[in-house]
Amino acid sequence: MDDIKAWHTRIELRSGWYAVALSSDLKDKPLRVMFDGQAYVLWRDGGRIGSKIGALADICPHRGAPLSLGRIQDGGVVCPYHGWRFERDGRCSHMPALASPAPAFIAPVQAAEGDGFVFLGRHAADLPLPIAPLVPGGTSVIMTGQVATTLGDFAENILDTTHTSVVHGGYLRGTDGRQPVTPTVVTGLDWIEAHYPPAATPDGFMGRFMGQGGYHITDRFRAPNITEVEYRQNGRLVFGTRFHLTPTEAGQIRAFGTMALAGQSWLTRAKISMLQVLFQRIIAEDRMILNAVSANRAAFGRTPHYIAPQDVLRAGIDALLRGDSPAVPARMPDMLV
Ligand code: FES
Ligand SMILES: [Fe+2]
Repeated sequence: MDDIKAWHTRIELRSGWYAVALSSDLKDKPLRVMFDGQAYVLWRDGGRIGSKIGALADICPHRGAPLSLGRIQDGGVVCPYHGWRFERDGRCSHMPALASPAPAFIAPVQAAEGDGFVFLGRHAADLPLPIAPLVPGGTSVIMTGQVATTLGDFAENILDTTHTSVVHGGYLRGTDGRQPVTPTVVTGLDWIEAHYPPAATPDGFMGRFMGQGGYHITDRFRAPNITEVEYRQNGRLVFGTRFHLTPTEAGQIRAFGTMALAGQSWLTRAKISMLQVLFQRIIAEDRMILNAVSANRAAFGRTPHYIAPQDVLRAGIDALLRGDSPAVPARMPDMLV
């Protein structure tokens, strides 16, 4: 019973940068985004892509109007009700009905931009933005989607090899005959990763699409909210995905993903466009099962959380989300993937 209660308790988010919007969705109008149960207004002080981003709680301290329904003027965001204007530092710089504004203030939130995403900082201070190139010199595309789930369940889903042939049929892994493999798990202070040797390379569509030869696959979770999957061939990084998982409203996680292939030729661009279509399909299938899991838990009022031997990353992901360091499982299972 205690376990069940613990899993229903909201986990305090760890410090870090959380993706909250696509850069391309923030242009000449204020934008309302949800982050960890609260609404924020984002805007660009120059009203165009590339200018500096302001981020404040999306509620005017006067009567509570959502600033996101207002407009951008002289670098600030103007409330849609009585027209008070707020600067990026949270100060009210203009009240239309007063010759000089009375003191009014909204605590500003750290905002930054990179890799095609807008990030909000949670006690992020000097932490670097998590935007290192996925495949250096490669070609990348971005994608986003929201699912009714938890951060831990979403991260596990993306990194889990044991659901793929069940949920995704032959897209990622073949359905005809699984391969025996013993993964290796490695941990650091704030990350955990599983390595699958080339013998276990998927023989599904993905394996064929990527070309001949085995891949060394790495599945990694990095605190506070990042999943990374890497395919290496003869030690060379050839394909990778990274998802920033952001709690938005209660019980909802929005994923902001990047997918990259080595190379920059027209063939690489064509391949990645096809992969993008494939991934939209895969994400839709994951969304369906994760939504069903959430609805079922709500109906039963309980959250089964049995960590089986083949769930090699789950205990580590849970530890990282609690703010602890992960441990390598005591014994590695003989898996069939
Ligand atoms: S509610 Fe915003 S200015 Fe009055
Ligand atoms: Fe999946």
